[in-house]
Amino acid sequence: MNIVVIGSGYVGLVTAACFAECGHTVKCIDIDKSKLKKLKIGQIPFYENGLEKIVLKGVRSGNLEFTSSYEKSLRNVDAIFLCVGTPSKSNGEPNLNFLKSSLRSIGEHLQKDVVIYIKSTVPVGTNHFAERYLSKILKKDLKVLFASNPEFLKEGDAVLDFKDPDRIIIGIKDNYVKKISKLIYKNFIKSSNSLVFTSIESAEIIKYASNAFLASKIAFINEIARLSDHYGGNINEIKLGMSLDKRIGEHFLNSGIGFGGSCFPKDLDGLIDRFEKNNIPTLIPRAVKQSNNEQIKYFAKKILKNSSTKKGSVLVWGLAFKSNTDDTRESPAIKLIKRISKHYKRVFVYDPLATANAKKDLASLKNICFINNKYNNIKKCDSLIIATEHNEFKKPDFDLLMTLKQKTIFDGRNLLNASEIKKKGLTYFGIGV
Ligand code: UDX
Repeated sequence: MNIVVIGSGYVGLVTAACFAECGHTVKCIDIDKSKLKKLKIGQIPFYENGLEKIVLKGVRSGNLEFTSSYEKSLRNVDAIFLCVGTPSKSNGEPNLNFLKSSLRSIGEHLQKDVVIYIKSTVPVGTNHFAERYLSKILKKDLKVLFASNPEFLKEGDAVLDFKDPDRIIIGIKDNYVKKISKLIYKNFIKSSNSLVFTSIESAEIIKYASNAFLASKIAFINEIARLSDHYGGNINEIKLGMSLDKRIGEHFLNSGIGFGGSCFPKDLDGLIDRFEKNNIPTLIPRAVKQSNNEQIKYFAKKILKNSSTKKGSVLVWGLAFKSNTDDTRESPAIKLIKRISKHYKRVFVYDPLATANAKKDLASLKNICFINNKYNNIKKCDSLIIATEHNEFKKPDFDLLMTLKQKTIFDGRNLLNASEIKKKGLTYFGIGV
Protein backbone atom coordinates (compact mmCIF):
# COMPACT_ATOMS: atom_id res chain seq x y z
CA MET A 1 0.00 0.00 0.00
CA ASN A 2 1.02 3.62 -0.56
CA ILE A 3 0.86 5.30 2.84
CA VAL A 4 1.45 8.90 3.83
CA VAL A 5 2.21 9.63 7.49
CA ILE A 6 1.89 13.26 8.54
CA GLY A 7 4.07 14.21 11.51
CA SER A 8 7.42 12.68 12.45
CA GLY A 9 7.26 12.78 16.24
CA TYR A 10 7.20 9.75 18.58
CA VAL A 11 3.99 8.41 17.02
CA GLY A 12 4.47 9.42 13.38
CA LEU A 13 8.03 8.18 13.11
CA VAL A 14 7.29 4.82 14.73
CA THR A 15 4.20 4.39 12.55
CA ALA A 16 6.05 5.31 9.34
CA ALA A 17 9.10 3.15 10.09
CA CYS A 18 7.09 0.08 11.11
CA PHE A 19 4.79 0.34 8.08
CA ALA A 20 7.84 0.70 5.81
CA GLU A 21 9.57 -2.25 7.44
CA CYS A 22 6.63 -4.56 6.67
CA GLY A 23 6.70 -3.60 3.01
CA HIS A 24 4.39 -0.60 2.57
CA THR A 25 5.66 2.38 0.59
CA VAL A 26 5.66 5.21 3.10
CA LYS A 27 6.15 8.94 2.74
CA CYS A 28 6.54 10.76 6.05
CA ILE A 29 5.73 14.46 5.88
CA ASP A 30 7.03 17.07 8.29
CA ILE A 31 7.21 20.86 8.08
CA ASP A 32 10.53 21.06 10.00
CA LYS A 33 13.15 21.09 7.21
CA SER A 34 16.14 20.74 9.57
CA LYS A 35 14.51 17.69 11.17
CA LEU A 36 13.82 16.22 7.71
CA LYS A 37 17.48 16.63 6.75
CA LYS A 38 18.53 14.48 9.73
CA LEU A 39 15.76 11.93 9.19
CA LYS A 40 16.84 11.42 5.57
CA ILE A 41 20.17 10.07 6.85
CA GLY A 42 18.44 8.02 9.53
CA GLN A 43 19.16 10.35 12.47
CA ILE A 44 16.21 10.76 14.85
CA PRO A 45 15.92 13.76 17.23
CA PHE A 46 14.95 11.78 20.32
CA TYR A 47 15.79 8.48 21.99
CA GLU A 48 13.42 5.61 21.24
CA ASN A 49 14.65 2.06 21.65
CA GLY A 50 15.25 0.37 18.28
CA LEU A 51 13.72 3.17 16.20
CA GLU A 52 16.89 4.53 14.58
CA LYS A 53 17.67 1.08 13.17
CA ILE A 54 14.34 0.61 11.40
CA VAL A 55 14.25 4.21 10.16
CA LEU A 56 17.67 3.67 8.55
CA LYS A 57 16.50 0.33 7.13
CA GLY A 58 13.44 2.00 5.62
CA VAL A 59 15.43 4.86 4.10
CA ARG A 60 18.02 2.45 2.63
CA SER A 61 15.34 0.10 1.23
CA GLY A 62 13.54 3.01 -0.41
CA ASN A 63 10.32 2.09 1.40
CA LEU A 64 10.55 5.14 3.67
CA GLU A 65 10.94 8.67 2.34
CA PHE A 66 10.94 11.93 4.30
CA THR A 67 9.56 15.03 2.64
CA SER A 68 7.85 18.35 3.23
CA SER A 69 5.90 18.10 -0.03
CA TYR A 70 2.21 17.30 0.24
CA GLU A 71 1.83 17.75 -3.52
CA LYS A 72 4.28 14.95 -4.42
CA SER A 73 3.27 12.68 -1.53
CA LEU A 74 -0.47 12.74 -2.24
CA ARG A 75 -0.25 11.91 -5.95
CA ASN A 76 -0.67 8.18 -5.46
CA VAL A 77 -1.74 7.60 -1.86
CA ASP A 78 -4.05 4.85 -0.52
CA ALA A 79 -4.14 5.91 3.13
CA ILE A 80 -3.08 8.93 5.17
CA PHE A 81 -2.18 8.67 8.89
CA LEU A 82 -2.46 11.97 10.76
CA CYS A 83 0.10 11.81 13.59
CA VAL A 84 0.51 15.50 14.38
CA GLY A 85 0.78 16.87 17.92
CA THR A 86 -2.33 17.95 19.82
CA PRO A 87 -0.76 19.74 22.83
CA SER A 88 -2.93 20.97 25.69
CA LYS A 89 -4.11 24.57 25.71
CA SER A 90 -3.98 26.42 29.06
CA ASN A 91 -7.59 25.37 29.77
CA GLY A 92 -6.74 21.69 29.17
CA GLU A 93 -8.42 21.56 25.78
CA PRO A 94 -6.28 19.85 23.08
CA ASN A 95 -4.94 22.32 20.49
CA LEU A 96 -6.03 21.14 17.02
CA ASN A 97 -4.13 23.75 15.01
CA PHE A 98 -1.57 21.29 13.62
CA LEU A 99 -4.41 18.95 12.65
CA LYS A 100 -6.28 21.75 10.85
CA SER A 101 -3.13 22.87 9.06
CA SER A 102 -2.52 19.30 7.83
CA LEU A 103 -6.13 19.04 6.65
CA ARG A 104 -5.76 22.31 4.72
CA SER A 105 -2.64 20.98 2.98
CA ILE A 106 -4.41 17.71 2.20
CA GLY A 107 -7.39 19.65 0.83
CA GLU A 108 -5.08 21.67 -1.35
CA HIS A 109 -3.12 18.77 -2.88
CA LEU A 110 -5.26 15.61 -2.74
CA GLN A 111 -5.72 14.09 -6.20
CA LYS A 112 -7.56 10.83 -5.50
CA ASP A 113 -10.00 9.05 -3.15
CA VAL A 114 -8.35 8.15 0.16
CA VAL A 115 -8.86 6.94 3.72
CA ILE A 116 -7.63 9.31 6.42
CA TYR A 117 -6.78 7.70 9.78
CA ILE A 118 -6.54 10.13 12.69
CA LYS A 119 -3.90 8.59 14.94
CA SER A 120 -3.21 11.76 16.91
CA THR A 121 -4.91 11.82 20.30
CA VAL A 122 -7.97 13.96 19.67
CA PRO A 123 -11.09 14.74 21.71
CA VAL A 124 -14.18 12.71 20.91
CA GLY A 125 -16.00 14.35 18.02
CA THR A 126 -12.83 15.48 16.20
CA ASN A 127 -13.15 12.98 13.35
CA HIS A 128 -16.61 14.31 12.64
CA PHE A 129 -15.25 17.88 12.75
CA ALA A 130 -12.27 16.97 10.52
CA GLU A 131 -14.54 15.44 7.88
CA ARG A 132 -16.65 18.58 7.69
CA TYR A 133 -13.56 20.82 7.79
CA LEU A 134 -11.89 19.00 4.87
CA SER A 135 -15.05 18.82 2.76
CA LYS A 136 -15.12 22.63 2.70
CA ILE A 137 -11.56 22.94 1.37
CA LEU A 138 -11.22 19.98 -0.99
CA LYS A 139 -10.59 21.28 -4.48
CA LYS A 140 -11.92 18.18 -6.22
CA ASP A 141 -14.98 16.00 -5.84
CA LEU A 142 -13.18 13.11 -4.13
CA LYS A 143 -14.33 10.34 -1.80
CA VAL A 144 -12.50 10.80 1.52
CA LEU A 145 -13.31 8.34 4.31
CA PHE A 146 -12.23 9.10 7.88
CA ALA A 147 -11.25 6.60 10.58
CA SER A 148 -10.11 6.92 14.18
CA ASN A 149 -6.97 4.83 14.88
CA PRO A 150 -5.62 5.79 18.32
CA GLU A 151 -2.10 4.75 19.32
CA PHE A 152 -1.18 2.85 22.48
CA LEU A 153 2.59 3.29 22.28
CA LYS A 154 4.58 3.55 25.52
CA GLU A 155 7.75 5.65 25.20
CA GLY A 156 10.77 3.39 25.42
CA ASP A 157 8.71 0.46 24.07
CA ALA A 158 6.98 2.20 21.17
CA VAL A 159 8.41 0.04 18.37
CA LEU A 160 7.56 -3.17 20.24
CA ASP A 161 4.09 -1.85 21.12
CA PHE A 162 3.46 -1.02 17.45
CA LYS A 163 4.69 -4.38 16.13
CA ASP A 164 3.10 -6.48 18.86
CA PRO A 165 -0.02 -4.56 19.92
CA ASP A 166 -2.52 -5.81 22.51
CA ARG A 167 -5.14 -4.42 20.18
CA ILE A 168 -5.54 -2.25 17.08
CA ILE A 169 -8.63 -0.08 17.44
CA ILE A 170 -10.17 1.40 14.31
CA GLY A 171 -13.28 3.55 14.48
CA ILE A 172 -15.16 3.51 11.16
CA LYS A 173 -18.31 4.67 9.46
CA ASP A 174 -17.85 2.89 6.12
CA ASN A 175 -17.15 -0.82 5.68
CA TYR A 176 -14.61 -0.16 2.92
CA VAL A 177 -12.28 1.07 5.69
CA LYS A 178 -12.40 -2.43 7.22
CA LYS A 179 -11.01 -3.92 4.02
CA ILE A 180 -8.15 -1.46 3.59
CA SER A 181 -7.32 -1.56 7.32
CA LYS A 182 -6.84 -5.32 7.20
CA LEU A 183 -4.42 -4.87 4.28
CA ILE A 184 -2.48 -2.12 6.02
CA TYR A 185 -2.19 -3.89 9.39
CA LYS A 186 -1.99 -7.50 8.15
CA ASN A 187 1.55 -7.97 9.53
CA PHE A 188 0.53 -6.82 13.00
CA ILE A 189 -2.66 -8.80 13.55
CA LYS A 190 -1.72 -11.50 16.07
CA SER A 191 -5.11 -13.06 16.61
CA SER A 192 -8.68 -12.75 15.42
CA ASN A 193 -9.57 -10.24 18.13
CA SER A 194 -6.55 -7.95 17.95
CA LEU A 195 -8.02 -5.83 15.13
CA VAL A 196 -11.17 -4.31 16.57
CA PHE A 197 -13.60 -2.15 14.60
CA THR A 198 -15.82 0.23 16.52
CA SER A 199 -17.77 3.39 15.84
CA ILE A 200 -15.56 6.46 15.37
CA GLU A 201 -16.74 8.02 18.64
CA SER A 202 -16.02 4.82 20.60
CA ALA A 203 -12.48 4.68 19.21
CA GLU A 204 -11.82 8.30 20.15
CA ILE A 205 -13.10 7.66 23.69
CA ILE A 206 -11.17 4.36 24.09
CA LYS A 207 -7.88 6.25 23.88
CA TYR A 208 -8.73 8.75 26.61
CA ALA A 209 -10.47 6.18 28.78
CA SER A 210 -7.50 3.77 28.57
CA ASN A 211 -4.92 6.39 29.54
CA ALA A 212 -7.06 7.87 32.27
CA PHE A 213 -7.70 4.39 33.69
CA LEU A 214 -3.98 3.55 33.71
CA ALA A 215 -3.25 6.87 35.39
CA SER A 216 -5.98 6.10 37.95
CA LYS A 217 -4.31 2.79 38.80
CA ILE A 218 -1.04 4.58 39.48
CA ALA A 219 -2.66 7.33 41.56
CA PHE A 220 -4.62 4.71 43.51
CA ILE A 221 -1.59 2.59 44.46
CA ASN A 222 0.29 5.76 45.37
CA GLU A 223 -2.42 6.77 47.83
CA ILE A 224 -2.39 3.25 49.30
CA ALA A 225 1.39 3.62 49.64
CA ARG A 226 0.87 6.70 51.78
CA LEU A 227 -1.49 4.68 54.03
CA SER A 228 1.06 1.87 54.15
CA ASP A 229 3.70 4.41 55.20
CA HIS A 230 1.53 5.50 58.10
CA TYR A 231 0.79 1.98 59.39
CA GLY A 232 4.19 0.43 58.59
CA GLY A 233 2.81 -1.82 55.87
CA ASN A 234 4.79 -2.84 52.80
CA ILE A 235 3.41 -1.58 49.47
CA ASN A 236 5.19 -4.36 47.57
CA GLU A 237 3.32 -6.96 49.65
CA ILE A 238 0.10 -5.00 49.21
CA LYS A 239 0.64 -4.84 45.42
CA LEU A 240 1.27 -8.58 45.32
CA GLY A 241 -1.82 -9.30 47.39
CA MET A 242 -3.95 -7.12 45.11
CA SER A 243 -2.44 -8.26 41.80
CA LEU A 244 -3.19 -11.96 42.41
CA ASP A 245 -6.80 -11.00 41.75
CA LYS A 246 -6.97 -11.47 37.98
CA ARG A 247 -9.43 -8.59 37.79
CA ILE A 248 -6.75 -6.23 39.14
CA GLY A 249 -3.53 -7.63 37.67
CA GLU A 250 0.01 -6.53 38.41
CA HIS A 251 0.63 -3.87 35.77
CA PHE A 252 0.68 -0.15 36.50
CA LEU A 253 0.67 -0.73 40.25
CA ASN A 254 4.28 0.39 40.82
CA SER A 255 4.16 3.07 43.51
CA GLY A 256 6.46 6.07 43.52
CA ILE A 257 6.41 9.81 42.93
CA GLY A 258 3.71 9.48 40.30
CA PHE A 259 3.17 9.68 36.57
CA GLY A 260 4.40 12.21 34.02
CA GLY A 261 5.02 12.18 30.30
CA SER A 262 3.37 13.82 27.31
CA CYS A 263 0.26 11.63 27.49
CA PHE A 264 -1.24 10.86 30.89
CA PRO A 265 -1.36 14.49 32.14
CA LYS A 266 -2.50 15.82 28.74
CA ASP A 267 -5.10 13.10 28.22
CA LEU A 268 -6.53 13.59 31.71
CA ASP A 269 -6.89 17.31 30.91
CA GLY A 270 -8.47 16.46 27.56
CA LEU A 271 -10.96 14.11 29.20
CA ILE A 272 -11.89 16.61 31.91
CA ASP A 273 -12.37 19.21 29.18
CA ARG A 274 -14.87 16.99 27.32
CA PHE A 275 -16.90 16.38 30.45
CA GLU A 276 -16.89 20.08 31.33
CA LYS A 277 -17.69 21.28 27.79
CA ASN A 278 -20.82 19.10 27.85
CA ASN A 279 -21.75 19.73 31.48
CA ILE A 280 -21.42 16.03 32.32
CA PRO A 281 -20.62 15.46 36.01
CA THR A 282 -17.24 13.81 36.63
CA LEU A 283 -14.96 13.37 39.67
CA ILE A 284 -12.42 10.67 38.89
CA PRO A 285 -10.10 12.20 36.23
CA ARG A 286 -9.78 15.42 38.21
CA ALA A 287 -9.11 13.51 41.44
CA VAL A 288 -6.44 11.44 39.69
CA LYS A 289 -4.69 14.59 38.48
CA GLN A 290 -4.82 16.18 41.92
CA SER A 291 -3.70 13.00 43.68
CA ASN A 292 -0.71 12.74 41.34
CA ASN A 293 0.34 16.30 42.15
CA GLU A 294 0.00 15.55 45.88
CA GLN A 295 2.37 12.58 45.57
CA ILE A 296 5.34 14.80 44.72
CA LYS A 297 4.55 17.14 47.62
CA TYR A 298 4.23 14.10 49.93
CA PHE A 299 7.67 12.78 49.00
CA ALA A 300 9.33 16.21 49.03
CA LYS A 301 8.05 16.66 52.58
CA LYS A 302 9.44 13.26 53.59
CA ILE A 303 12.85 14.18 52.14
CA LEU A 304 13.05 17.56 53.87
CA LYS A 305 11.75 16.19 57.18
CA ASN A 306 14.47 13.51 57.21
CA SER A 307 17.37 15.59 55.92
CA SER A 308 19.12 16.82 59.06
CA THR A 309 21.66 19.33 57.78
CA LYS A 310 20.38 22.55 56.28
CA LYS A 311 21.99 23.75 53.04
CA GLY A 312 23.84 20.49 52.52
CA SER A 313 24.10 18.93 49.07
CA VAL A 314 22.09 16.10 47.57
CA LEU A 315 22.54 13.59 44.74
CA VAL A 316 19.55 12.93 42.47
CA TRP A 317 19.41 9.92 40.15
CA GLY A 318 16.81 10.32 37.41
CA LEU A 319 15.46 13.25 35.38
CA ALA A 320 13.33 11.56 32.70
CA PHE A 321 9.60 11.01 33.29
CA LYS A 322 10.14 7.23 33.16
CA SER A 323 12.78 4.60 32.50
CA ASN A 324 14.35 4.07 29.07
CA THR A 325 13.54 7.49 27.62
CA ASP A 326 15.20 10.90 27.32
CA ASP A 327 11.84 12.67 27.62
CA THR A 328 11.37 15.04 30.58
CA ARG A 329 7.90 16.33 29.68
CA GLU A 330 5.85 16.59 32.88
CA SER A 331 8.60 14.60 34.61
CA PRO A 332 7.89 13.97 38.32
CA ALA A 333 11.69 14.00 38.82
CA ILE A 334 11.99 17.54 37.46
CA LYS A 335 9.00 18.68 39.54
CA LEU A 336 10.52 17.14 42.69
CA ILE A 337 13.91 18.83 42.08
CA LYS A 338 12.21 22.19 41.54
CA ARG A 339 10.31 21.74 44.81
CA ILE A 340 13.32 20.86 47.03
CA SER A 341 16.33 22.53 45.38
CA LYS A 342 16.13 25.78 47.37
CA HIS A 343 16.82 23.79 50.56
CA TYR A 344 20.22 22.64 49.33
CA LYS A 345 23.53 24.28 48.58
CA ARG A 346 24.01 22.09 45.52
CA VAL A 347 21.88 19.45 43.77
CA PHE A 348 23.98 17.00 41.77
CA VAL A 349 21.77 15.39 39.10
CA TYR A 350 22.36 12.39 36.85
CA ASP A 351 20.33 10.66 34.14
CA PRO A 352 21.65 8.18 31.52
CA LEU A 353 19.51 9.64 28.74
CA ALA A 354 17.67 12.83 29.70
CA THR A 355 20.38 15.32 30.71
CA ALA A 356 20.15 17.43 27.54
CA ASN A 357 16.40 17.91 27.93
CA ALA A 358 16.63 18.43 31.69
CA LYS A 359 19.17 21.26 31.26
CA LYS A 360 16.39 23.26 29.59
CA ASP A 361 13.84 22.37 32.29
CA LEU A 362 16.17 23.30 35.16
CA ALA A 363 17.88 26.32 33.57
CA SER A 364 16.30 28.71 36.09
CA LEU A 365 17.88 26.93 39.08
CA LYS A 366 21.45 28.07 39.79
CA ASN A 367 22.48 25.30 42.22
CA ILE A 368 21.97 22.35 39.87
CA CYS A 369 25.15 20.45 38.88
CA PHE A 370 24.75 17.97 36.02
CA ILE A 371 27.09 14.98 36.34
CA ASN A 372 27.87 12.28 33.80
CA ASN A 373 28.62 9.52 36.28
CA LYS A 374 26.02 8.72 38.96
CA TYR A 375 28.66 8.50 41.71
CA ASN A 376 30.44 11.79 40.95
CA ASN A 377 30.63 14.05 44.03
CA ILE A 378 28.80 11.46 46.13
CA LYS A 379 31.08 12.21 49.11
CA LYS A 380 29.92 15.83 49.05
CA CYS A 381 26.28 14.80 49.32
CA ASP A 382 24.21 14.13 52.43
CA SER A 383 21.82 11.74 50.71
CA LEU A 384 20.71 10.15 47.45
CA ILE A 385 17.27 10.64 45.89
CA ILE A 386 16.08 8.17 43.22
CA ALA A 387 13.45 9.86 41.04
CA THR A 388 13.24 7.77 37.82
CA GLU A 389 12.98 3.99 37.53
CA HIS A 390 15.97 3.53 35.19
CA ASN A 391 17.23 -0.05 35.30
CA GLU A 392 20.82 1.00 36.07
CA PHE A 393 19.68 2.36 39.46
CA LYS A 394 18.42 -1.03 40.62
CA LYS A 395 21.85 -2.47 41.54
CA PRO A 396 23.84 0.37 43.18
CA ASP A 397 27.40 0.08 44.54
CA PHE A 398 26.70 -0.07 48.27
CA ASP A 399 30.29 0.75 49.20
CA LEU A 400 29.99 4.02 47.31
CA LEU A 401 26.54 4.72 48.80
CA MET A 402 28.11 4.31 52.25
CA THR A 403 30.26 7.39 51.48
CA LEU A 404 27.14 9.62 51.54
CA LYS A 405 27.50 12.00 54.49
CA GLN A 406 24.14 11.04 56.02
CA LYS A 407 24.21 7.49 54.54
CA THR A 408 20.57 8.10 53.54
CA ILE A 409 18.57 7.06 50.47
CA PHE A 410 15.21 8.52 49.46
CA ASP A 411 13.84 6.03 46.93
CA GLY A 412 11.09 7.81 45.01
CA ARG A 413 10.44 4.78 42.83
CA ASN A 414 10.67 2.00 45.46
CA LEU A 415 13.34 0.49 43.23
CA LEU A 416 15.64 -0.86 45.95
CA ASN A 417 15.14 -3.59 48.53
CA ALA A 418 14.55 -1.71 51.80
CA SER A 419 15.62 -4.51 54.15
CA GLU A 420 18.82 -5.19 52.13
CA ILE A 421 19.71 -1.49 52.23
CA LYS A 422 19.11 -1.22 55.97
CA LYS A 423 21.28 -4.32 56.58
CA LYS A 424 24.14 -2.49 54.81
CA GLY A 425 23.90 0.22 57.44
CA LEU A 426 22.16 2.78 55.25
CA THR A 427 19.02 4.71 56.20
CA TYR A 428 16.25 4.11 53.68
CA PHE A 429 13.05 5.97 52.91
CA GLY A 430 10.71 4.67 50.19
CA ILE A 431 6.99 5.27 49.74
CA GLY A 432 4.96 2.70 51.62
CA VAL A 433 7.86 0.33 52.18
C1 UDX B 1 1.36 6.05 28.09
C2 UDX B 1 0.48 4.84 27.84
O1 UDX B 1 1.02 3.73 28.58
C3 UDX B 1 0.47 4.50 26.36
O2 UDX B 1 -0.39 3.41 26.13
C4 UDX B 1 -0.04 5.73 25.60
O3 UDX B 1 -0.10 5.48 24.22
C5 UDX B 1 0.88 6.90 25.87
O4 UDX B 1 0.93 7.17 27.28
P1 UDX B 1 3.91 6.63 28.32
O5 UDX B 1 3.38 7.91 28.85
O6 UDX B 1 4.92 6.65 27.25
O7 UDX B 1 2.67 5.72 27.74
O8 UDX B 1 4.57 5.82 29.53
P2 UDX B 1 4.02 4.81 30.64
O9 UDX B 1 4.89 3.64 30.61
O10 UDX B 1 2.57 4.62 30.50
O11 UDX B 1 4.31 5.62 32.02
C6 UDX B 1 3.65 6.83 32.23
C7 UDX B 1 4.08 7.35 33.61
O12 UDX B 1 3.56 6.52 34.64
C8 UDX B 1 5.59 7.41 33.82
O13 UDX B 1 5.91 8.61 34.50
C9 UDX B 1 5.87 6.20 34.71
O14 UDX B 1 7.00 6.42 35.55
C10 UDX B 1 4.60 6.14 35.54
N1 UDX B 1 4.28 4.81 36.04
C11 UDX B 1 4.03 3.81 35.16
C12 UDX B 1 4.17 4.62 37.42
O15 UDX B 1 4.41 5.54 38.20
N2 UDX B 1 3.82 3.39 37.88
C13 UDX B 1 3.56 2.35 37.05
O16 UDX B 1 3.25 1.25 37.53
C14 UDX B 1 3.68 2.56 35.63
